[in-house]
Formats: sequence, C-alpha cells, structure tokens
Amino acid sequence: MSETRSIAPADGKLGVLTVGLGAVATTLIAGVELAKRGQGLPIGSMTQMGTIRLGKRTENRTPLIKDFVPLARLDDIVWGAWDVFPDDAYVSATRAGVLEQGKHIEAISDVLRDIRPMKAAFERKYARNLTGDNYYEGASKREMLNSIRADINRFRDEKKVDRLVMIWCASTEIFIEPGPQHENIASFEKAIDANDDSIAPSMLYAYAAILEGVPFANGSPNLAVDLPCLRDLAIEKKVAISGKDFKTGQTLIKTVIAPMIKVRQLGLAGWYSTNILGNRDGEVLDAPENFKTKEESKLGVLEDILQPAQNPDLYGDIFHKVQINYYPPRGDNKEGWDNIDIFGWMGYPMEIKVNFLCRDSILAAPLALDLVLYSDLAQRAGLGGIQEWLSFYYKSPQVAPGLYPEHDLFAQLTKLQNTLRWMMGEDQITHLGREYYDGE
Ligand SMILES: NC(=O)c1ccc[n+]([C@@H]2O[C@H](COP(=O)([O-])OP(=O)(O)OC[C@H]3O[C@@H](n4cnc5c(N)ncnc54)[C@H](O)[C@@H]3O)[C@@H](O)[C@H]2O)c1
Repeated sequence: MSETRSIAPADGKLGVLTVGLGAVATTLIAGVELAKRGQGLPIGSMTQMGTIRLGKRTENRTPLIKDFVPLARLDDIVWGAWDVFPDDAYVSATRAGVLEQGKHIEAISDVLRDIRPMKAAFERKYARNLTGDNYYEGASKREMLNSIRADINRFRDEKKVDRLVMIWCASTEIFIEPGPQHENIASFEKAIDANDDSIAPSMLYAYAAILEGVPFANGSPNLAVDLPCLRDLAIEKKVAISGKDFKTGQTLIKTVIAPMIKVRQLGLAGWYSTNILGNRDGEVLDAPENFKTKEESKLGVLEDILQPAQNPDLYGDIFHKVQINYYPPRGDNKEGWDNIDIFGWMGYPMEIKVNFLCRDSILAAPLALDLVLYSDLAQRAGLGGIQEWLSFYYKSPQVAPGLYPEHDLFAQLTKLQNTLRWMMGEDQITHLGREYYDGE
C-alpha cells in the first residue's frame, strides 16, 4: 500500500451547472432524479454501477467504486443551467423526445419544472441554426463573462451549495483554431475587450468557471477550456478541467476496434463512418462550419491509435471518412454505420461492418454524470489542471502539451482505475502477475 492522498470529504450539497439544457442535460437530470427515487437504474455510469479490483486476484477485493472513493451522493446534487431557449427542463426534456413521457418525465415533473435556464452567453454566429432568444443580445464579451460569473455566485448563494461543477452540454460551435489570442491571459483578456471573434462563448464559460474555482468538463468538441491560457490558469488556481467531446457512439466503437486491429498487426486500407441523426444537435451540425469542429474531433482518433509513421506498411495509406447527416425522423436515435476495410497475411483483404442503432443521449447522460462526480472528486483531492485520467470519457482527450492523446478505451480505463487506486493509497495493478508463479 502506498500513501493515501488527502481528499476533502464530499459533505454538503454539490451544485451542477450545465451549459445547455437540451437532450443530454435533461436526460442526465431526469435520470439522476429517477435513480434517486428508485424509479430507474443509472446504467452506463461507472461511478454508480462499476466495481474496481484491488490488490492481488487472490484477495477477492472488488468493491463498488462509489464505496471505494468518496464521491458526492446523488441525493446531494442541486441542478442549475443556462440555455439559449427559455424552456424549463420539463418542456425541454419533452421536446428532446429521448425519454418516455409518462414513465420518465411526468414522474418527476415537479423537479424538472423547477429548473429554468439562466440567460445564455451566446452569439448566433457561433451556432447559426439555433433560434432561441434567452440570451443577452448585443452584449459584449466582457459583459457575457461578467454575467456568467454573477450567475455562478448567485446560484451558489441562493441554493446554498458547498461546491460546484460546470459541464458543457451545449451545442457544438463553429470551428476555431487556437491562435495568439489564446496564448496567455493578457492576450486573452485583450481579445475579450476587443470582442475578437476568436473568443467563443464556450471559452467565456470555461474562463468564468476557473476564475470562480469551479471544475469544468467539456462534452462538446469546442475548444472551450482547451487553450494554453486556460490550461495554465487552471493549474495556477488548482481547478480541475477536462475535455473534449463525450465518447458515446461511433467513436466508442472505433476506439475498441482500432486497437484490436493494431495489436494483431492487421492492416487498414479505409474506414468509412456515417451517421443519421435527427435531434437538435444534428440540426446544429448540419451547418458545415459547426460540423468541421466535430469532424476534427472524430478524425484524430485513428491516426493517434494506429501511429502510421511507425508502421507505414499497415497504416501508411488509410482512407478515413466521417459523415453526419441530419435526418429528422430518427430524432435522438442515431444510426451509425462503419465499413472497415482491413487486410491480413500476405495482404488479403477483409471487411468489418458495424451498424450501431444507438440512442445518443442515453449513452451520453451516464458519461456526463461520471464526469461531474469525478471532476468534483479531483477538485477535493487537490488535482488542478488537465485531468487526463478522464480521457476514458472523451473523443478528443485533452492532454499536456507535447503528448499525443491515448485513445484506446482499455488503456484509458487502466489509467482511470490506477488513478483511483493511487488516490486511495492502493497498489497499482500492473498485470505482471509473476507472484502467482514464482511462489513469492
Ligand atoms: N448526445 C451525444 O451522444 C453526444 C455525444 C458527444 C457529444 N455531444 C455534444 O453534447 C452537446 C449537447 O448535445 P445535445 O444532444 O444535448 O444537444 P441539444 O441541441 O439538444 O442541446 C444543446 C443546448 O445547448 C444550448 N446552447 C447552445 N449554445 C449555448 C450557449 N452558448 N449557452 C447556453 N446554452 C447554449 C442550445 O440552445 C441547446 O438547447 C453537443 O455539443 C453535442 O455535440 C453529444
């Protein structure tokens, strides 16, 4: 056993602020409220249902994760949100069409109706397909930043919460590349005052969160907190940050199948991925400049896993295509197709086809819950800056400069679990296992 890290207890109320009160956020909130009342199981959530092995296999110690690390209890969560649409969580959940109205929305309608979104920091140029008007139209970037900070503090006081976490569950913004404006806080501040287009609303939320000491998790591919200036500030202020983009459907599958191809030394000629999706997320992504942000997040995965430069014979010439087609009849029920052209011994070609008929927000909600609870844990454990151990949840994990992200789902899981073991003073599990054979 090594030394246990000192972790402040999870006493009192945890305020969860969601940026965006759309399909993912309302599915998260409704699911947690149903689970609290024993009216549904939080399936897909590692913090609620997962176990962790401790010590040697002969010790038979495999507690539930929530019994092993001091996580906030679901009963202690208090919700708050911002959205461009004024609809409360009841109306928004109904509109999203993810959950069954009678069984999963009416049953908790009182809680849902009480969650009314605060006015958003938003500019239409960042997501032009959104038509809501619950935002400060014409406000400067500085005014938006100040209003987010004021909202955080008002929420903290009114709801009497002891700690807060902010999670971006809002739309994907247009594609922006990090530039000199994002280099350091001085240049960032200057760009805010100049109302520079390179400062997107998601960056203002992330900045406000760090300034207020609130951990920030980013469920979309927007840069948001993935900027050199905010990364440094998060370290300085000891605020836990992580991103980007919930790893739910097709990329989840990609980060399981691609490592398999790689470890068996099979070759890859092409990977064609396409999706049909009919929710509001799909509508926003129908704008090419917003889709580009998502595309970048999805495309990086294969190259990072397969490392073509190290293995040009197998991966030197891959055709990788990702498409998302907006198709309203399917609503939140996304259908993804993958056609994977691989080759084996002596170059003989083979094909893998995957047709995943998934439910986008049903897959995303448990990830959002885990990110909230683990971000709060990291904060109480004094871990500021990027939480790379949460890569498990992201399509495009945020990592320290100079590192390539680890995408393999099971490598990510090992990192996450070893971080929990390290926090609690348990031995790392290396899978060497000589002791079972050497008689030591
Ligand atoms: N559902 C999934 O499986 C999944 C997976 C990965 C990533 N994501 C990402 O999660 C995000 C949310 O997805 P969703 O399906 O809930 O979308 P959604 O369209 O149902 O909800 C997003 C909400 O954010 C609001 N919004 C947009 N800009 C805002 C701003 N500046 N401030 C406050 N609110 C704002 C919109 O009005 C909308 O109601 C998207 O970025 C999506 O790409 C979702």
